[in-house]
Parts: sequence; structure tokens; C-alpha cells
Amino acid sequence: MKTNQTIYTRACNVLTGGVSRNTIFREPHPYYVSKAKGSYITDIEGVERIDFANNMASLIHGHSHPAIIDAVTKQLQNGTAFTMGTEAEVDYAELLIARSGTFERMRFVNSGTEAVMTMIKTARVYTKKTKIAKAEGAYHGTYDYAEVSQTSNPSNWGNINKPNINPVVEGTPQGALNDVVIFPYNDIERTLNILDQFADEIACVLIDPVPHRVGLFSATNAFIKAIYKWTRKNDALMVFDEVVTYRVNYAGAQESYTCKPDLTAMGKMIGGGFPIGALAGKSEIMEVLDPRGKILRHPHSGTFSANPISTTAGRVAMELFDEEAVLNLNTLTETAIHQIEESIKIADVPISITGAGSMFRLHLQEKKPTCYREAYHTDEKKSIIKELLDYLFMEEQIIMINTCACMFATSMTQKEVDRLSEALLNGFKIIKPKLYQLY
Ligand SMILES: Cc1ncc(COP(=O)(O)O)c(C=O)c1O
Repeated sequence: MKTNQTIYTRACNVLTGGVSRNTIFREPHPYYVSKAKGSYITDIEGVERIDFANNMASLIHGHSHPAIIDAVTKQLQNGTAFTMGTEAEVDYAELLIARSGTFERMRFVNSGTEAVMTMIKTARVYTKKTKIAKAEGAYHGTYDYAEVSQTSNPSNWGNINKPNINPVVEGTPQGALNDVVIFPYNDIERTLNILDQFADEIACVLIDPVPHRVGLFSATNAFIKAIYKWTRKNDALMVFDEVVTYRVNYAGAQESYTCKPDLTAMGKMIGGGFPIGALAGKSEIMEVLDPRGKILRHPHSGTFSANPISTTAGRVAMELFDEEAVLNLNTLTETAIHQIEESIKIADVPISITGAGSMFRLHLQEKKPTCYREAYHTDEKKSIIKELLDYLFMEEQIIMINTCACMFATSMTQKEVDRLSEALLNGFKIIKPKLYQLY
């Protein structure tokens, strides 16, 4: 009989560490999916769980939405990828551009990593400068430059007035590290001081408006305004990574700010469950990608870019995620946060919640963190979070993201929210003694 363990044993003989993405790894083995529908996933051993991870925020309607399946099935009959264009990519670009005021032109790619990379390269070509500035702790995918200092820790993060430039991967070229400037998120004074030191060299300031790994709290309007003003003064671009946060409002998290980005990278949910990324922004800047230019300034391709499966699924998903759906989902998420805050009170545990729109993250501390260093998980915290998440997964049949975060989907109802807040209450009681030992 097939079990999660027997599949993992086979996997270890062919996949390094038995997995293709570290995210799915669990001790003693990962769990393998048999089927999924809406907010529920059944594993190969028949155990059904409620999915609050939604493939790391990429399934805005949960699993196997019938309208997406129908549209994709029709497209499958007509082919999946061509060395020709399809109307599907034009339809989808029209929809996204109509939806977001800052998008004048766009390009589709295959992942969030690729979208961020293409955005940075576009900014470099346009500004004729090479450095990028990004926040300490912020995850933007795995492009060498974009990942710098994402995993900084107390032993190497250095002085907050000028955080250290730390590679994530051993062997990252020194040249890449030299071209990255790190600032503390939402800290206007320190950030501007740091940026000023490289004023002539910075092509773009890269911002995730609600950075998950930094702590999943929103950039303040004042911070975005300060960055915007700095970029105008210094011939740099302000670029947003909305790979996760495009869900926050109908037109992305950027809708909440008075100053808007020059370019936006997207991914995850805009693929309707299929791999995708997209870069959108001002046409004057996007022009550097135009093959009709006399000089090809930024030759850009991608074998599966704008394939009609991803663009069809994405278009249907975004049509369904209309203004009303965004508001309803955000309201349900707020309800969940209130209920979990009740569970925190009843269990009497030092836990706080941050988030925006349809996402939130729990922090094992009474005061909500306001920066990466405050939200940082020490080894002790990591082990308590693991205990909580393992309990939820094994005993309550609930899947959360391993930072202790939830990414909601329109397939969720009050029933799933009630299950989550009850299960967390039980989990909080279990970790309570260890939590108090932290203080
Ligand atoms: C904010 C952000 N940017 C970029 C990425 C990279 O996206 P992908 O995994 O599709 O390459 C992620 C992935 O988690 C992300 O959270």
C-alpha cells in the first residue's frame, strides 16, 4: 500500500532531500496529495485537511475551481505552448491593465522570481545604473540581488543604521553583493540616510508593501512617500513586488498609497493555480523591452512566458476576484483575526497578529512587531512554532504556512474560520508553558 513514508523513501532516491521545493519538507517526511477541492486537501493516506496556505498564497479561489478547470480544459484541447502569440495573453493583459491605474504596459513571465528579476533589469536599463536597494529580511524570490540579506540573523545583521549585506546562498558573487543596498523597512530616517550614501548608483528601490518575512505588516504611507520623493530626486525608480500583495485590494496593495510605483512585479494568484509572473508599469520605462527599438536594450524572452494555460486560468481567476469578492474575502479574514484574538485572550498567551487584506501572521510575542529584527524567529521561537504547526497539521487537520501565517481563499466560509480559531485555541494551550519560558 502507498503511504506518505513509502513515497518519500522513493523520492529520496531521486530528488535531493526527497523534495523539489524545501517548503513542503516536514519531519519525518512530507505529505503527498491525492486530491484537493476548494479549501480541502486529501493526502495519499486519505486524511483530509483544511488548507490555509493555499500554495503559498497562489490559490485565491482554493483548489480546482470549476470555472478555471472548464476554461483550462478547453484551452488544453487547442494546445498549451507555441512559438506564436495567443489571444489569451492579450485578453489577460487588457484585464489587468484596466484593473490597475499604474499599469500601462506589461509582460508575462513564469514566476515571481522571474518577474522581480525582469523588473530590476528593466530599472537598470532605464536608469543606466546598477545598484538596487531592498529591505532587510524581505523575500523577493531567488535572483542573486533580490535575495540579499533576506536571512540576516542577530549574529550577522550588524548595526541597524547600516544593516550588513549578507548572501543567502554560499558562493554568491561579491560583485552581486556590492550592488545591493540594504535598509530597515518602514524606518524613514535610517533608510534615507543609507540611500543618500549611494544616491548616484541606485537604479531602483524595491518594496514589498506588506513583506511576509519582514513581519507581514504594511508599509506606512509616510514611508512610501519618502521613498517616492527620494527616487524622484535621484533619478531612480520606485518598484513594488506585489507577487503576494496584489490580493490586498482590487488594484493591489499599491491602491492604499498616495504615491504609486513606476513598475510592479506580480505572480502567484494571477496564475489562477498555474505558474506565472508579470511585470507591469509605465510604458516609457517598459519600452526598454520593446523589440521594435533600434537597439535591443533589454532582450527578453522565456520559453513558457504567456503560455495560454496560465494566462487563461489567471484571467478567469481575476475575473472572479472582482471588487465584491476582494471585499468579502478581506471581511472574512478580519473575522478570523478577531476570533483568533479571542482565542489568544482565552488561552492567555503572549501572541499578536499582523496582516493586511486576506492574509495574516501570528507572532509569539505580545507586542506586534514593527520591523524584521523584532519579528525575527529565534531558535526557541522556531521550535515552539514548529510544535504548534505540527499539532495543527497532525491533530486538527489544519495546514498553515510555516511562518505561522494564513493566506485566505474565496472558497473559505465561516465554518473553516471557526475550525481555525478553535484549533488554534487548543494549540495555544499546548504551547503556553513553553511560551512563558521565553520571557
Ligand atoms: C514577495 C515575493 N516575491 C517573489 C516571490 C517569488 O515568487 P516565485 O516563488 O513564484 O518565484 C515570492 C515567493 O514566495 C514572494 O513571496
